[in-house]
Amino acid sequence: MKSPQHIYISALGLYAPEKILTNDNLAEFVDTSDEWIRSHTGIGERHIAAENEQCSDLAVKAAKYLFEKNNLSMDGIDGIVVATATPDYYGFPSTACIIAEKLGLKGPAAFDIGAGCTGFIYALEVARAMIKSGSMTRALVFGSEKLSAVVNWKDRNTCVLFGDGAGCALLEATDEEKGILDSTLHAEGSGSLSLVIENGGHAIAMEGRAVYAFAVRAIGDTIVELLKRNDLTIGDIDWIVPHQANKRIIAACSKRYNFDPSLFYMNIERYANTSAASIPIALSEMEDAGLLKAGQKILFVGFGAGLTYGGTLIQW
Ligand code: ACO
Repeated sequence: MKSPQHIYISALGLYAPEKILTNDNLAEFVDTSDEWIRSHTGIGERHIAAENEQCSDLAVKAAKYLFEKNNLSMDGIDGIVVATATPDYYGFPSTACIIAEKLGLKGPAAFDIGAGCTGFIYALEVARAMIKSGSMTRALVFGSEKLSAVVNWKDRNTCVLFGDGAGCALLEATDEEKGILDSTLHAEGSGSLSLVIENGGHAIAMEGRAVYAFAVRAIGDTIVELLKRNDLTIGDIDWIVPHQANKRIIAACSKRYNFDPSLFYMNIERYANTSAASIPIALSEMEDAGLLKAGQKILFVGFGAGLTYGGTLIQW
């Protein structure tokens, strides 16, 4: 079998739950303020899933949006790869299998990937490599999170930071000169206990300062690594789409590495940190706003629990 030339993102979708929790709403039940949250993180509000809305439901709604928006059929989808830290079940079955069933897909390869907030970057690379090798031909790659289910709503250090949502990318092969050019994946297990979901999936605990310092370095180093080995400079890049954890992390990284801050697409004000979903949500939103144009070079950069980090270089 001839190996496909290039693997590209052919369509994008997102879903954000209807319910919005503003910083002022939060301040009604935890000792915080809109001023503190905005000035320390850039977050203004977050979406919160309904009680009966699971991680798989958010993902399915993102996929339906993708198919309806682009008037595409689900024919030939033979891969479902789901990056999530908040699966429907902590154990079997995988959320990917549940999504396949809810979408009515028969017999795809379907599995979850756990790499914290870097999950979408890992999932994209696994799906790319599987399409390249011929194990899949058309794959839906999701980042989907119901973080509200694992947040300790009494802990102001963490509960203000997170939100729910899902994003979805359709990945397939093309002979055109476009698509994923390179990707890099890393982990620093020495920091594994600085960001954990404790109690069998019931409370996020985080050493905020340690994660902050790691994040600034991880984003910067990933960008430099991908630029260097592809003989590019930052001036060749049209957009950087980072994991949305804290706008101060991006500001600190831009300053330290001398990147133009306006290269970074940010939407954290409206979604907070949606972990593995943040990059595909941002991409789908950028597409809807007409910001993604053929020929652009775009970097995705993720970092998170693990501690994991990594990036994707793509030509749109
Ligand atoms: N409202 C009001 N006060 C608060 C709140 C809050 N929501 N949260 C903490 N504080 C207080 C603290 O109690 C502390 O008070 P004290 O000095 O009296 O003890 C004070 O604010 C300062 O706390 P710090 O932790 O030093 O605040 P910092 O400026 O470091 O900001 C933050 C904290 C926002 C968590 C920051 O460290 C951060 O963003 N870290 C990285 C987090 C991150 O990116 N996580 C996710 C990455 S991976 C993933 O996405 C899963």
